[in-house]
Amino acid sequence: MIYDILASTLIAMWIILPAYITNPAAALFGGGKTVDRGLVLSDGRRLLGDGKTYSGLLSGILTGLLTGIIQTYLVMSGWELFGIKFPLFELVPTENGIGFKAIVTILSLSAGALLGDIAMSFIKRRIGMESGDSFPIADQYDFIVGAFLLVSLTSWDWVVNTITIKTIIIILIMTPILHIVANIIAYLTKVKKVPW
Ligand code: CTP
Ligand code: MG
Repeated sequence: MIYDILASTLIAMWIILPAYITNPAAALFGGGKTVDRGLVLSDGRRLLGDGKTYSGLLSGILTGLLTGIIQTYLVMSGWELFGIKFPLFELVPTENGIGFKAIVTILSLSAGALLGDIAMSFIKRRIGMESGDSFPIADQYDFIVGAFLLVSLTSWDWVVNTITIKTIIIILIMTPILHIVANIIAYLTKVKKVPW
């Protein structure tokens, strides 16, 4: 029972890791030129704000991709944790190394996460929230929703064969917990200015 919960939780975290990792990577390596280039809309507010930069976007996607590639090679080398076998990002393993479908799935998870985050920044600005203002629930789930939407568009057969209702429930429970922990660490290490 406990082992089943642990195994399901670790597998769910494994699947969503390329999406999860984008946020801390963007916070760590982001900065410089903003995605909206300072554009202010007719409502007097920024399109996205100072918190969305090209370097954050690029470093987030690359970190997500690198993470997924490392995960793939770990699985292919027969690596296990507590006897748990983790899933690949493609249904039919490619013989030598990582396959094109896996790359597409991994990139969709990481790029989708950052697009979800950008979409939420757009909404936050439109309802008058400043960059960095806390928007509970939205701040925690924006990148998960983005990742699910994009990966469903590009890799539907992988999604239906790999992601179960149980996986989704675990991700929904674990996301706010990990988000809070990660942001407190980011705040304490001065990577982020606010602890959310
Ligand atoms: N970041 C970035 N580029 C991105 C996403 C994030 O540079 N595409 C960096 C920014 O330094 C940002 C930090 O990661 O401040 C944390 O991201 P997030 O919490 O999403 O940004 P906020 O500052 O809270 O801005 P917003 O209110 O728009 O979400
Ligand atoms: Mg935010």
